[in-house]
This record gives sequence, structure tokens and C-alpha cells, in this order.
Amino acid sequence: ASSINPCDFKFRRNWVPGFLRPLPKIPGEDVAGVVAEVAGGAASSGKFVVGDRVAAMLPILGSRLGAAAGYVAVDEALVAKIGERTSFEEAASLPLVSLTALQGLRKLGDERKMRGKKILIQAGAGGVGTFAVQYAKKVMGMHVTTTASSGKAALVKELGADVVVDYRTERFEDVVTEVDVVLDPMSWSYEGRTLGNGRNVLKPDGHYLNIAGSDWSFKGRERVNGALTFRNVIGHTMRNFFLPGSTPRYDIVFVEPDGAQLQDVMELLSKGTIQAVIDRKFPLEKASSAFKHLENGHATGKVILQH
Ligand SMILES: NC(=O)c1ccc[n+]([C@@H]2O[C@H](COP(=O)([O-])OP(=O)(O)OC[C@H]3O[C@@H](n4cnc5c(N)ncnc54)[C@H](OP(=O)(O)O)[C@@H]3O)[C@@H](O)[C@H]2O)c1
Repeated sequence: ASSINPCDFKFRRNWVPGFLRPLPKIPGEDVAGVVAEVAGGAASSGKFVVGDRVAAMLPILGSRLGAAAGYVAVDEALVAKIGERTSFEEAASLPLVSLTALQGLRKLGDERKMRGKKILIQAGAGGVGTFAVQYAKKVMGMHVTTTASSGKAALVKELGADVVVDYRTERFEDVVTEVDVVLDPMSWSYEGRTLGNGRNVLKPDGHYLNIAGSDWSFKGRERVNGALTFRNVIGHTMRNFFLPGSTPRYDIVFVEPDGAQLQDVMELLSKGTIQAVIDRKFPLEKASSAFKHLENGHATGKVILQH
């Protein structure tokens, strides 16, 4: 099985230099399946054998290989074993989104020090959000506020959210104050509303994690927050250098494949600490319908391709 992510369609519908996304490109970063062949000699550490059940996040850039295929070659450093009771669909739903959340949250430093602290996770019902809410609550012990439309409130509460803001009827900046961390996959529309002048969504010594993304409502060129983000990175870094704690810390997250981190995620899934949230499943031949569905921007959890 594989799953699809917004970066798949964003790269498809925008021009990207060939050295970054060589064409023809098979879409898909997230894959789970059975090892069919292992490279011999120095290329293999012996960690994986034919028949192992595994999952991986493939590199987003620099390769034509993608997960929406019968077979894929992948560097073993990017691969994790999956539990006996974990389905391929569950395993394939998690790599890119879980690594994004994990790599963002690990920028906060020692996880144990975050216990009891307050986090706002934007778009809690999305792929990144459904993992981030669970991880922040169940592994880090944080107090979690998230944004979701009202029909999804029950789900995000079940995943661990303490407070749900219906972003369609309330402005989060009017009701959320003084959180320690904001994890923001909606940064193109929410960054200014979080860090703008006079806002107190974050504590002055809080931490803003920008999960760099772009506008879903695509009309021509994808809209991004380049200038605002640049200003914020420079501004926050400089002010914190001269006056530590005077303004929130600011980090941008660009997910990287990582087999060891993915193994941590697969252990959490096996133990039942976190669950896979699957929105819809499509047969591989219907991948274009799966993409149309995801492009609407309202999937709840992950969209799966069945191979
Ligand atoms: N920088 C990186 O490395 C990185 C990695 C992963 C993802 N991303 C980016 O992060 C973004 C989210 O990715 P994803 O996989 O989570 O997407 P996704 O699964 O497609 O997210 C869909 C969810 O977003 C919610 N949503 C839409 N508009 C919202 C709004 N204004 N406020 C709050 N929630 C809203 C929807 O809820 P409703 O149906 O209730 O509207 C839906 O449940 C994308 O732009 C993606 O490109 C970046």
C-alpha cells in the first residue's frame, strides 16, 4: 500500500526544476510492503531480509522513484520494520506526516520538559495534524488545542485534543492565548495571524514551528509566505540573539526521510499508543481520483492507495 500527500500534487501543478524533481516522476513518498530483494555486498548491513514487512518514506526530491508502483528501490537507512499486527495500509499512512511532526516537535529539545505545556496544533484533522495531536498528547503529555471544522471535533478529541477550535466559526487568535508551542501546517494563512503585532497566541518565550506549506486554493501559481516567513525568521532570530526570550523562537520544518525515526513511529503504532487515521482508500488504478479528493483540502487523516 502507499499513501499520498499534498506535496505530490503541489509539485505536479507547479513548475519545478528538473534537478529537483526529475521527470518522468512516479508520485508518492509513503510505502509499505514486503522486501522482495536485498542488495548484496557492502550496500547491505544484513538488517533486512527478503520477506520482511517494512515501511519507508522515499526522498521527495532528486529521484524519479515513487511509492505508487508495484516495486520500489529504497536505501535501507530509510526503512523501518512494521509490527505483525500492523496492516500495510496503516503503516503506509504514516511515514511522511509522522516524520514531519516528529522532526518539528524534536526541535523543542528534551521531550520530558514539555510535559504539561500547552501546544496549538493547526489543522488537527489532516495527515500531519492527526499524528501530531496524538504524539503531543500521548507521548509528550502536552495540553493540546487544535483547529478543525465542527464535524471533526469528536475525532480530534478522541485522538487527544483537549480543546478544539472550529476555525469556520471562531478565529483561533481570539480564543487561544499564551501557548508554549504552535505547530502550524497551515502557515501560509495562519503565520501572520499567529505572530502579527500585538498577538498573544504564543507566550513571548514560546516556539513557533512552521511546517512549510502553501495555499490549497490554487489559482495559477501556488501561493507561499516567502517574504513574511523570511522576515519572521530573521526578526525572531536577531531579537532572540540580543534579548533571549523576548520573542518566540521560530523554526521551519522540511521533512527528511529517516528510517530510525520511522522505526520509533512504527513501535508506537504496534503498541497502540498511536493509531493510523485513514480517510479513504482507492485502488492504485484510481490514483487520479485519490488525488482529486486530497486536493480538496478536507481529507480526514490519510488517503491510501491499495496495491
Ligand atoms: N514542510 C514540510 O516538510 C511538510 C510536510 C508535510 C506537510 N506539509 C504541508 O502541510 C500542509 C498540511 O499537510 P497535511 O498532509 O496535513 O494535509 P491534509 O491531510 O490534506 O489536510 C487536510 C486537513 O486540513 C484541514 N484544514 C483545511 N483548511 C483548514 C483551516 N483553514 N484551518 C484548519 N484546518 C484546515 C481540513 O479540515 P476541514 O475539513 O475541517 O477543513 C483537513 O482535515 C500541506 O500544505 C502540506 O504541503 C509540509
